[in-house]
Amino acid sequence: MTEEKMLDLLDEADKMRSFSHSPYSRFAVGAALLCTDGAVYGGCNIENASYGATVCAERTAVFKAVSEGHKDFAAIAITGGPSAASADNPCPPCGICRQVLAEFCDPDELSVILRDAGGAPVSYTLSELLPLSFTEESM
Ligand code: THU
Repeated sequence: MTEEKMLDLLDEADKMRSFSHSPYSRFAVGAALLCTDGAVYGGCNIENASYGATVCAERTAVFKAVSEGHKDFAAIAITGGPSAASADNPCPPCGICRQVLAEFCDPDELSVILRDAGGAPVSYTLSELLPLSFTEESM
């Protein structure tokens, strides 16, 4: 993916981040999930007074896409940071979100796009972030 496309997807994640419901952590996260057919699904973190009911931005995006018939993903951009500020630091996906992404993609093919510490786009494959993932082949 070109740097321009990565920046576009990070911008989309920033837009989604503005919808974050995070009154407890005050840490707002946004995600933009690019499907192989070009559709983009966004998500934000949605917290709950019963903290364990919180869902991360990435899973919000994945569940929106899958529930609308999209299961083939090319890339996901993630931005996050304290709610009061812009998301300039890397916000890597949590372990549960990595596992959920692994359910729906070839981990060598899915790009996870973050901002690096200087704000520039950086891309990892899911297999770099979640080696030896547990999948249906493991069962
Ligand atoms: N969070 C995400 O949305 N995605 C991640 O991958 C890491 C954490 C959210 C969950 C919670 O609302 C807040 O960030 C602080 O953990």
